[in-house]
Amino acid sequence: MKLMDGKKLSARVKDDVKRQAADLKQTPCLAVVLVGSDPASKLYVEMKEAACKEAGMRARNVKLAETIGEDELIQAIEKLNADDGVHGILVQLPLPKQIAEEKILEAIDPAKDVDGLHPLNAGKLAAGQPVFIPCTPKGIMRLLEEYGVKLEGKHAVVVGRSVLLGKPVAALLLNGNATVTICHSKTKNLDEITKQADVLVAAVGRPKLIGAEMVKDGAVVIDAGTNRLPDGALCGDVDFEAVKDKASLITPVPGGVGPMTIAMLLENTLLAFKNQTLGKEKRRC
Ligand code: GUN
Repeated sequence: MKLMDGKKLSARVKDDVKRQAADLKQTPCLAVVLVGSDPASKLYVEMKEAACKEAGMRARNVKLAETIGEDELIQAIEKLNADDGVHGILVQLPLPKQIAEEKILEAIDPAKDVDGLHPLNAGKLAAGQPVFIPCTPKGIMRLLEEYGVKLEGKHAVVVGRSVLLGKPVAALLLNGNATVTICHSKTKNLDEITKQADVLVAAVGRPKLIGAEMVKDGAVVIDAGTNRLPDGALCGDVDFEAVKDKASLITPVPGGVGPMTIAMLLENTLLAFKNQTLGKEKRRC
């Protein structure tokens, strides 16, 4: 078993973004919208803002009340869309129950959609012509590339079908010529399917769902779960101790997929800035 070190790779990506940002005449700016005061979301937002600043970019913090209405939130986003000093917009999810997430994501200018969650960007990814790729799936693909995992003809199994993770990572694996199976809460005989995976991506948010008996010998195992246990410890969707000796490559939690998310957000913010300021030709990431 070999660990896939997301901490090390993300540090390299962040350094690269910082170097590129230092060469620009203007400073890229990411607006981070936080609705309410959920402690986990607050922490993620703070980490994203701090990472922006460390990379020499600006972060604009937009804090809105838990009780905000859909129309008011859309107005706040439209203001950011119209602001030439803002190059990227991220609305931290999940949003309070009274707000339909899809309406909010659709309100973001696709050119500033550094999360890649606007239907236009999701559609481009599904069509094999990505512009902004959602950060965690993009980070997973970068890890696979870094560790020399060849996808062509491999069976990739994704457990989870969220808009944020399961669906985009499945699209990326498919674009990489893997044969892709997506499993979810209604899938029958989950273990029979996961056992066939050459590359297994767990992205459901259920602590230690993937046990040793669900993993093929030599599989590459990507754990995109970040679950907080009652004692406060972080735990993935994979039972790491049980699976580690079966996997050829495996991501730890913490220190695997997690740090890659923020690094990819910085890359996407830089890309948004370049697309908006350096001529018309759209750059791909
Ligand atoms: N909540 C958990 N992960 C993410 C993410 O990647 N983007 C946004 N906007 N919200 C999240």
